[in-house]
Order: sequence, then structure tokens, then C-alpha cells
Amino acid sequence: MSVFPQNQWYVAAWSREVGRDLFARTICGEPIVFYRTLDGQVVALADRCVHRRYPLSLGSLRGDDVECGYHGFTYDCSGVCLRVPGQERVPRTARVKSYPVVEQANWVWIWIGDPAGADLTAVPDNHWLDDPRWTVIGDMAPLPARYQLLVDNLMDLSHETYLHAGFIGTPEVAATPIVTKVDEDDRVIRVSRHMNGAECPPFYAKSTGFSSPIDRWQDIEYRPVCSYVLHSRIAPAGVLPADNGEDTGAVHVKILYGITPETENSTFDFWAVARDFAVGDEEVSEFLERMNREVVQQDVDALTLLERVIAEEERKEGVQELSIAIDAGAMAARKMIRRMSTTDHAAGVTSDATV
Ligand SMILES: [Fe+2]
Repeated sequence: MSVFPQNQWYVAAWSREVGRDLFARTICGEPIVFYRTLDGQVVALADRCVHRRYPLSLGSLRGDDVECGYHGFTYDCSGVCLRVPGQERVPRTARVKSYPVVEQANWVWIWIGDPAGADLTAVPDNHWLDDPRWTVIGDMAPLPARYQLLVDNLMDLSHETYLHAGFIGTPEVAATPIVTKVDEDDRVIRVSRHMNGAECPPFYAKSTGFSSPIDRWQDIEYRPVCSYVLHSRIAPAGVLPADNGEDTGAVHVKILYGITPETENSTFDFWAVARDFAVGDEEVSEFLERMNREVVQQDVDALTLLERVIAEEERKEGVQELSIAIDAGAMAARKMIRRMSTTDHAAGVTSDATV
């Protein structure tokens, strides 16, 4: 069984990363080449020529087709081989896997599993990344650790108090209990932490102009495996949304992550911060970007270290973890991902049996 749930949408790239140059990226252990057709559509093909497995990403684009840089096997954007050298007849089996992709709000999403199951309407919501009411900063951090460690990290924000002190962490984050809700049918896990009368961390003090005390609400919406949105609401203490839902006294930040496994022990950490205040203000953007890069790097450094520790300890017997109340969201995520992997596996067994 693959360690990655297959029948899922994963963020493969920022839109700006994919153009008319062949672009290689391994997703869920599968080497993939990406490019844009002449009319701008994103294409994703297996990055291995059927002939001698040479990476197609080392070849070149001929119009909308890819020519292998080793012997010139040429594929169209659906993966069908059009030409082979030295003979007219192209073998019928000469095709590479083509992956369903959807470009949505500046992220390129890819479906790794059975293409027949790809529901183009079920791509997780990331519209804030392409909405004039929100100003966005974001990037991708390569993470040399298994994706499960990033899930644990993001589902338990109490670590902000310790790992991100001086940036986004204050004592209240770790001290305030969470409320966790799991929706198995919709495959979403929600973790909420509402801190009222809390200290304002530098990340928000310098960008919003608010000072302590503030009401700081964190509402995580996680759709395993890839889609993570932290809805963050910051307001002067005691300022509440109106009965009609309007919330003009507060500012809102959407912190998005695309958690995409590269291999069993490495992950693409796509991150973005979208805000509905100081819209278009470049000074605020520069400040938040500097802060957030540092915060992401603090996580990357910690998880890189943890990966080494876990890889070492996996070889030993009797090493145990201890989980407590703050881990409820992470534990629910682990359980849901386990179930999704099993469902994929069951689906694979069924289709194998009918072949
Ligand atoms: Fe963190």
C-alpha cells in the first residue's frame, strides 16, 4: 500500500512556477514533468520516456508536444507518443501517464490517483489567493521530512508559544484549550482556539497597529491530505462581530498551506498569508513576508531535526509517543488519513480484480 492517499488533489506548484520551460517535480513519489501549452493550459505527464526511462523534463517542447532529449520519442499533451525515431509505426503501448490538473487561484492542483476518479469540482477552496479584496504573500519551502510531521505541526498551534516566540507566539496560545470537530462525511477536521484579552504578537502588532490586549481567534479547517486553512481573526479586546455577521472592527488573515508529499521523507510546504487589511500596502507585505519566512523556516528546521530523530528511532523497539489534549486535531488527522489510504487501497484491489 502506498504511504500516500492517492485519490486526492494535491498542490503541485504555484502558477508562476509553470511556463514554457519543462519543469520537473516529484509528487507522492511519482516523477512528473509540467509545462504550459501555447494557449496556457498546464500539462502534467510522467517524467519518464517509455523507451529507456530518460526524464522527459530534460528534453524540449515542440509546440505543445514534448520531445525526449535521449532518442527523440515525442509525446502530445495527453501522453500519447506521436513519433519514434527510425520507423513509421509507433507502438500502441507507447504512452506516458497524463495527470488531471486544475489551475485554481494561483495554485496548480494535481490528481495522483486513478484519473477516472478526479472530480474537477472538488478542488479544495483557495480563492483568497486570487481575490482583489485580499493581499497575498506566499512561497514554497522544501521540507526534508515526512508530510505527517507537517500535519502534526499545523494541527497543534500550541507550538507557536515556544517555537515562534517573538513572532506569532504568545503565552495564551499554549494556555488556551482547543475545540476539535471531525466531519467524516465531508472529510474535514476543524480545530478552534479563541483567545480573548490576549497579548498581541509582533506579527500582528506591527502590521495592524493593534496593541494588547486583543481577541485572537484561530479556526483551523483541514481537509486531508493537502488543504489547510487557518482562519485568523484579530480585534481589539471585546470587539465582536455584528449580529448580521459583519465584522468591520476586526482584521482577518487566511493562512493557507498546501501539504504535498514529495517522497516518503520529504514534503513541499506551500504557504500563503492572505489579509483583508492594509490591502496593497507593500511595506506591510514586506514585513509580513519577512516574518512569515522566518516562522516557516523555524518549522522546517524543527521538522528536519525530528525526521532525523524518528528515522533513527524507527529502527529501535519500545520507543513511544505520548499524546495529550492539544493533540486532538493531529490525532483526528492521522486517523482520517489512515482511513483514506485504506479506501484507496481497497479501490485499487477491486479494480485489479476486475481487470
Ligand atoms: Fe509553526
